[in-house]
Amino acid sequence: MRHFLIACAASIAFSASIQVKALTTDEKVDALLAKMTLEEKAGQLNQYSGYEIITGDIDVSKISHRNLLVKKGLVGSVLNVLGTKDVEKAQRYAVEETRLGIPLMFAFDVIHGYRTIFPIPLAESASWDLEAMERSARIAAIEASAAGQNWTFAPMVDISHDPRWGRVMEGAGEDPYLGSQIAKARVRGFQGNDLSLPDTIAATAKHFAAYGEVIAGRDYNNVDISRRKLWETHLPPFKAALDEGVRSFMNAFNEFEGVPSSANTYLVTDILRDQWGYSGVVVSDWDSFGAMVTSGVAVDDAEAAEMSLEAGSDIDMESDVFVNFLPQLVRDGRVDEAKIDEAVRRILQMKFELGLFDDPYRYIDSEREKALILAPEHREAARDMARKSVVLLKNDDQLLPLDKNIKDIAVIGPLADNQFHMNGFWRGKGEAEDVVTLLDGIKAKVSSNTRVRYAEGSGLESVDKKQLRKAVKLAKKSDVVILAVGEDADKTGESASRTNIELYPAQQELVKAIHETGTPVVMVLMNGRPLAIEWSSENIPSILNGWLLGSEAGNALADVLFGDYNPSGKLTMTVPRNTGQIPIFYNTKRVSRPLDNTRYTSKYIDSPIEPLYPFGYGLSYTEFSYSSITLSTESISFDEVLTASVTVTNSGERFGEEVVQLYIQDMVGSVVRPVKELKGFEKIALKPGQSEKVTFTIGVDDLAFYTRDMSFKAESGEFKLFVGSSSEDLQALSFKLTAK
Ligand code: BGC
Repeated sequence: MRHFLIACAASIAFSASIQVKALTTDEKVDALLAKMTLEEKAGQLNQYSGYEIITGDIDVSKISHRNLLVKKGLVGSVLNVLGTKDVEKAQRYAVEETRLGIPLMFAFDVIHGYRTIFPIPLAESASWDLEAMERSARIAAIEASAAGQNWTFAPMVDISHDPRWGRVMEGAGEDPYLGSQIAKARVRGFQGNDLSLPDTIAATAKHFAAYGEVIAGRDYNNVDISRRKLWETHLPPFKAALDEGVRSFMNAFNEFEGVPSSANTYLVTDILRDQWGYSGVVVSDWDSFGAMVTSGVAVDDAEAAEMSLEAGSDIDMESDVFVNFLPQLVRDGRVDEAKIDEAVRRILQMKFELGLFDDPYRYIDSEREKALILAPEHREAARDMARKSVVLLKNDDQLLPLDKNIKDIAVIGPLADNQFHMNGFWRGKGEAEDVVTLLDGIKAKVSSNTRVRYAEGSGLESVDKKQLRKAVKLAKKSDVVILAVGEDADKTGESASRTNIELYPAQQELVKAIHETGTPVVMVLMNGRPLAIEWSSENIPSILNGWLLGSEAGNALADVLFGDYNPSGKLTMTVPRNTGQIPIFYNTKRVSRPLDNTRYTSKYIDSPIEPLYPFGYGLSYTEFSYSSITLSTESISFDEVLTASVTVTNSGERFGEEVVQLYIQDMVGSVVRPVKELKGFEKIALKPGQSEKVTFTIGVDDLAFYTRDMSFKAESGEFKLFVGSSSEDLQALSFKLTAK
């Protein structure tokens, strides 16, 4: 009997889809909606986590209860159910055991790879290589979809100026222009051209909005910024993701103007839906609806549900408030059922686009899963992405690249041979055992006559004197030391804010002790945020910012250390000298008393105001020389454009890549304007002696900003245009925008 019912339910579901074949998706959605009870509608808005919990807490013993709810049609999507076997099981519950057979969507935080782990997103952003980042997201989507997933909670497009905040590792740094380009590349990578293909997944622009501004860099803290700052700094990457067709948005944990993002009508309805015309799904962050009771803006869960729906949010991740309270709220006249219908419509629409109504099992193919996960070509791409992400911060006397024939190499440091930490935070299904460590990468790279010896030297946060002595001894009898220090994976990412972003004292002690041996030291920083390494920067001859680079970390670093790859990364987040300089970022606004040698100007009395390494900075093993800039004209009107050209020559002896950067400064505005703003860049590859002309086109759109009355437009007057190799290494020319 039970089987008969299941078969009936399945055939109702499928015959429904056959009957409505000729209809448009909207009509199909409406037809289905018309059949749904209030409870089933609330169920579509409900999202639960499975067993692979990364954030938040759920009791694993509740899983069977959750399965029951799926079978009752009270769950519309799930996160953290991974692998075709488990996905199929859950999907069968939804399709075969519920009255209407509506398939589930399967979501996961695929942030920098699924099983093949790519560099953390902040590291990738330092490549300034949009194609490579798109490929990285593409491969992540291929692997995730092969494991049954059809939706990722990425890209995280939050701009932040605060490296105390652990979540900077998930983003693309501090600049809204670059962040927008990267947001688009990642959306393209995840979603491809057709969401219904079995190897593409829906992307999510998160966290909407201004989460990068949490006060004092403390995660889950409040945000208190102006609308101006919201529009100038935080919204552009979200708009860019939307323009690229991003299929979902996620609310942020923080409030804006006193109202939690999840219930913030200004953010979700006024901006996102009305001004930007977004018609897709908005998912809450983990329990962010229910959390409104904790922050005291909702008196109880029912009110939290009412407020969230009212503001335009659609899916409740993990707080149960929609499924538990919406039907009753409708019956009590507090919520209009039409509002629920709108949300359900958006979700069903997404399911149609993912192709789930044509075939709810389309992402479930265990053969694909076996063939694609950790495929050799994915590892190769991860290695390439990782090399491109490395930033050469310092290279005195050209200590790097190292010779593969060096006799004795000491590899020292708590991160030099650690597989687990290389995968960073948000490591998807990445496994430590898949990782090539720095030590392994070096061993595989050097000549057979080279002796590579390893000493841990210190723990991540503790030093054992014996361990330290052993490392010092090894350093003394070696020709060079490669010293891997930094942060462990879980000291970065969500809920990993720090009040001090210097090296941990134990590692600082190790660095000093190794430096004192007099053996040349190459420091490989392994980090999820910019680290304030002022002492090292003054004392250690060569420093690579090596991030947490994923499965191929060691091979990629060895490629760079021994010159098989010439580093081309440039910082996308300013590196401060000390934690007290935070927030520090390059596109700061002009001040009334700029720094000079007199007392009453804008500065610190105990630290320079300049960063240790600026935005856009990164060295190469070759040299690039820039010709002077040529402007096509010195004055344009509002409907004209000008071009700025520069010829870049590789004047060194190695093949190399350079990121040529364009910045603009508006000299007088109706509101205070930034000292410079990135407006373009091009990454070029040059052989020794080769030159290339790079031309940027600047039009009125590049000069527009939120003026005094918040209208977005350009104002006539004088502008400065800068071209160069970092935000601090630039030539400048002036031009005018005239009303004519
Ligand atoms: C994070 C989100 C993430 C979600 C689901 C939350 O804690 O803030 O970025 O997508 O968990 O794992």
